[in-house]
Amino acid sequence: MTADFRHFYQKNWDERVAIVTEQAHLTPDEQALFKQYYVPQHHEIIENYLTDYPLPMGLAVNFVIDGINRIVPMVTEEPSVIAAASNGAKIMKRGGGITTTLNQREMIGQVVLEKVKDPAAVAAMVTKHASTLLTVANEAHPSLQERGGGARRIRPRDLGQGYLSIDLFVDVQEAMGANMLNSMLEAVSKAIAVMTKQDSLMSILSNYATASLVKAACDIPVELLQAGRYSGELVAQKIASASMVAHIDPYRAATHNKGIMNGIDAVAIASGNDWRALESGAHAYAVKNGQYRGMSRWMTNGKILHGELEMPLPVGIVGGSIKINELAQLNQRLLGVKSAGDLERIMVAVGLAQNLAALRALVTTGIQQGHMHLQLKTLAMAAGATDDELSTVLQRLELAPQQDLATTQRIITELRQAKEETDD
Ligand code: MEV
Repeated sequence: MTADFRHFYQKNWDERVAIVTEQAHLTPDEQALFKQYYVPQHHEIIENYLTDYPLPMGLAVNFVIDGINRIVPMVTEEPSVIAAASNGAKIMKRGGGITTTLNQREMIGQVVLEKVKDPAAVAAMVTKHASTLLTVANEAHPSLQERGGGARRIRPRDLGQGYLSIDLFVDVQEAMGANMLNSMLEAVSKAIAVMTKQDSLMSILSNYATASLVKAACDIPVELLQAGRYSGELVAQKIASASMVAHIDPYRAATHNKGIMNGIDAVAIASGNDWRALESGAHAYAVKNGQYRGMSRWMTNGKILHGELEMPLPVGIVGGSIKINELAQLNQRLLGVKSAGDLERIMVAVGLAQNLAALRALVTTGIQQGHMHLQLKTLAMAAGATDDELSTVLQRLELAPQQDLATTQRIITELRQAKEETDD
């Protein structure tokens, strides 16, 4: 029998759990999971709320960004990400740390007009009345101006085929600003439709946040990169080559950038930010010149390895779910951020550190070595190893011809039998 999900959104939490239990024949233990991670306030964040979904949170260390020591909370389910970020940051710290540059922090929104017969004339009209439209935008969100922000400028863009985008640039202060911007855009859209007699197709912020760019750079003496039998100079050359491959090959660029986003997304989640927005902006920026490329560049003169990463990072420290999410607030305190700009600087630095560690591992030992230890640990825990047994189980597992659940369980059983015999 299928449970009745009609008006599910109107049901209270107990009713929802009962319906899901009926539908999926949940056991009491499974139902208990809903209770275990349930946070009543989270009914205010999403619809049809059931429970929270826990992800591991850890701390990346060793970051020196613009001369300031930082600890970086990261939320990720992927082993090695935090170790790699800390490792990259350690090398960079020894080289003098990471410096960042942030020139501008504005969000961009679009009002898209359609069936425009004379785009140049409509664009000219919009430009002529720009100050009126900026006033309309600001009146839609007066508190933003009171806080020193507000709509700054308007840019018409002919998209071709009868579409004209009127881009609105807004200083959203310390928020990511999606809601503010969208209300402003809807007001501006109505004013533009009246003014130009054109049809407005839609108005929405753009995640291609080219007015919120931030850059991280570092200079590392090559000897700090030495790894096993590879000299620092060779590692630096290989990292520069890996960077070149990501520049010329989209297949490699996608993976290179995924590694960068491993770190950035983890901080975005930990700080209560919309990581999907950052992802889409980052990848759009990676293809800004027509070919998808690695977002970072590494180059060496034989003595120094220089690295750079520039990307859009329109994050916020207030607004959205942050006000309800106590951990996001705590993490912002751990990060020591006083402004959204501070958070952008940290995140781009994390991206560069993450990238350095990944490339260094890839061009020397490969990444599996680092991954393996954590994977074996996960396996041992899944097989039921206790804290006391863990290190012995791991040692035996590393030597075992097959590293699977059955082998791990056998190792644990043998260990326990041996212990019983000794105890007797
Ligand atoms: C894995 O999550 C990320 C890497 O593939 C990044 C890279 O290849 O640069 C290691």
